[in-house]
Amino acid sequence: MSGSDNPEIDLIMNRKRDGIAIPLSNNVQSRFVSNHLEYVKLIHNALPEIDFDEINTATEFLNHKFGSPIIIDSMTGGTPEALKINSRLGQLAETLALGMGLGSQRAGLKSTSLAETYSVARTNAPSAFLIANIGGAQLAEGLDIPMIEKIISMIDANALVIHLNPLQELIQPEGEPKYRGVWEKITKIRENISIPIIVKEVGSGISQEVALKLEKANINCINIAGSGGTSWAGVEKIRATKVKNDVKENLGELFWDWGIPTALSLIEVRNAVDLPLIASGGIRNGLEIAKCIALGANMSAMAYPFLKAASESKEALFTFANQLIYELKGAMFLTGSAHIRELAKSRLILTGELADMVINNERYHQNKS
Ligand SMILES: Cc1cc2nc3c(=O)[nH]c(=O)nc-3n(C[C@H](O)[C@H](O)[C@H](O)COP(=O)(O)O)c2cc1C
Repeated sequence: MSGSDNPEIDLIMNRKRDGIAIPLSNNVQSRFVSNHLEYVKLIHNALPEIDFDEINTATEFLNHKFGSPIIIDSMTGGTPEALKINSRLGQLAETLALGMGLGSQRAGLKSTSLAETYSVARTNAPSAFLIANIGGAQLAEGLDIPMIEKIISMIDANALVIHLNPLQELIQPEGEPKYRGVWEKITKIRENISIPIIVKEVGSGISQEVALKLEKANINCINIAGSGGTSWAGVEKIRATKVKNDVKENLGELFWDWGIPTALSLIEVRNAVDLPLIASGGIRNGLEIAKCIALGANMSAMAYPFLKAASESKEALFTFANQLIYELKGAMFLTGSAHIRELAKSRLILTGELADMVINNERYHQNKS
């Protein structure tokens, strides 16, 4: 699968290769904006009245049982490197009962060998919650229901993600920044596909207005994927530099940190809708996972840290995931939470810039209404 006789497949494989290689060999994380979770303080409980060994991170989400409220966020497929990464991520998801998202699967429709780079996850994770992936922009281009059904059956998916990535499409040298009609297409998919539909961003966050529109489309869950972690403007800027596209390079630089910080997006979407929520975007440790659960997320998700560990070795990946769960348990111990449902109710305070943003936002909406 080093190259094919089909120029269209070669183009897709090159883009997929860049999508893994650039985040691994360049710093494309947010530069001057954080996920704002540092402004969320969980209240310390000096009398937790539980033993550390009693702590149980198991949880239920979209009618599936998970070992911890952790999803390996949607990433990759479509290249030999992706095959290796998805194989390892699948093993991890199965062993620890985590969720796992696959990368955009349109490439998998082009050939059997490309499809295998995705389906390897199901081979290695027969009982894990696997999430199929398509792009909102591709819906506008005409990805139809039979194609979507093929994408779902490629990995025998438990849910389907539709990702919204207007920033990436804007900066990408060969991008298609066409979003007219996407909401209606999402509504149609919901009516025709039986498994749960999750709508996600890819690192710029979901606002309360968008969340309300998505709720009207009857989707089942939102992954807010806010800013503060991997920057897709950053990835595409580097690709634009490589092909000497100055306009896109400058645009990527300007919008590198664009988006709604993860903590703010989570707070406003939680206040706006009752849907199950996944928190993602720059989450890097178990304490941040605990903060997201306390802010109202049902699950957390991470992309770049899992990619980094999986590209190193299977051992590095398992060590990272076990550390993460230990950190989450640590936060649960120190808040006196034996179970995730107790962690969800634990008291927190918002400080600094995040508190200012939440208060100003409320005032702004009061003034408008
Ligand atoms: C290498 C890589 C590839 C990604 N590819 C996809 C994709 O195909 N579809 C998608 O919905 N999100 C994709 N994402 C976005 C992630 O799912 C996630 O929303 C975002 O990176 C924020 O998480 P992070 O800061 O933990 O990386 C990708 C992220 C990375 C790092």
